[in-house]
Amino acid sequence: MDALHRPLLDRSPALLAEGYAWLPNRMRESGGQVVRTRLMGRPALAVRGPDAVRFFYDERHVRRHRAIPEPVRGTLFGRGAVHTLDGDAHRVRKALFLPLLHVDRIAGVVEHVTAAWDEAVPSWAARPRVTLFDAASVVLTRGVCRWAGIPLAEEEAEPLARDLVAMVDGFATAGPRHWRARRARGRQEARLARLVQDVRSGAVTAPADSVLARVARHRHPDGEPLEPGTAAVELLNVVRPTVAVCWFVAFSAHALHRRPEHRDRLRAGDAAYAAAFAHEVRRFYPFAPFLGGRAVTDLSWHGERLPAGGLVLLDVYGQNHDEKLWGDPYVFRPQRFLERPVERDELIPQGGGEPDTNHRCPGEGITVGLLEALAVRLARLDHTVPEQDLTISLRRIPARPRSGFVIADVQAPAG
Ligand code: HEM
Repeated sequence: MDALHRPLLDRSPALLAEGYAWLPNRMRESGGQVVRTRLMGRPALAVRGPDAVRFFYDERHVRRHRAIPEPVRGTLFGRGAVHTLDGDAHRVRKALFLPLLHVDRIAGVVEHVTAAWDEAVPSWAARPRVTLFDAASVVLTRGVCRWAGIPLAEEEAEPLARDLVAMVDGFATAGPRHWRARRARGRQEARLARLVQDVRSGAVTAPADSVLARVARHRHPDGEPLEPGTAAVELLNVVRPTVAVCWFVAFSAHALHRRPEHRDRLRAGDAAYAAAFAHEVRRFYPFAPFLGGRAVTDLSWHGERLPAGGLVLLDVYGQNHDEKLWGDPYVFRPQRFLERPVERDELIPQGGGEPDTNHRCPGEGITVGLLEALAVRLARLDHTVPEQDLTISLRRIPARPRSGFVIADVQAPAG
């Protein structure tokens, strides 16, 4: 097994021991915004700050090909995914995802997911306890499939939600979570590859402008249609991260429980405050720890050198908690987003640079839109929070409240 194929956390005992704190701790020791380290047996340079974001996203410096380890491709992204492409191949594939940035698409997903939420609440009211993380994953699965044109029978929603969550949950571990993620990916890629073939043969009709139809007719730069397996990978690259918003829903509930003073403005439907709250959830809570690319040439950053072939790591968690940018980074304070405009490359929970030309997440608008709408619904949800373990361990990647955030005594809205 070569270094690229070993599970991510096997490769660096420090990463395993420290999780999200690994690079921020090294940065603190070095006293700067750059640190030299090793990952996967390769020399690495970790960087942070808006200038470093621009350096990282410049393809003359950093490329993705052969940078993303197989255990991450085999669980989180899929083989041949847009995340792993550079140059022209990336530009052509990325075009598939750019409509996701449009406001009407964002509104469409939000409408379907909030409808699924409203349908689910009465069933939560009928149960003594509901684990919000799991319940939100099912709501998001129903909503995103309806919006994307993916057929989903009522009884298929829960197993699909479990598989989509598993793919995200298992990318950074060597244990059973990792193998669960691989099995989940195998199952869902096979199912969606068959669906793409059925759309192409006319056996299944997909609404003309749906994500399903667009993926089915997308072509490589040479004009050939995507192989069914690659089409399935890219369909999953829309559906899976949308369902992963359940991590942020659980974090939103955690924030509202710990700091109930944020409830009132959300409950009142204050749109600017809901946006600020969504950004602060994405900044404050841990999700993507860092991003990695391969140095295409010998590089130097703030006096530190890296030979070609080494890894450049963008310290996402560290930058979102950098005192120089945020002043009081470990305080959950949505107001910070109302006090000053935040620059493009300062807040990077979903990557930096431009989404249409760089690898920045094309689903950022959808994520924020969903979080705004669901934070308001959460603030308005009549429920109690029983005694439970709400610890969020920074050693577990991806992190989440240990209990999954259990709620009780949910009241269905009248009428
Ligand atoms: C890329 C995070 C939601 C689709 C990324 C990247 C991150 C990220 C860190 C990598 C950026 C880079 O490599 O430079 C997240 C988080 C989400 C989320 C934390 C919320 C839970 C979404 C949604 C969609 C989406 C809702 C689609 C509907 C994608 C795609 C890419 C991507 C297709 C690959 C872009 C490329 O390589 O050019 N996301 N994302 N993500 N995300 Fe998201």
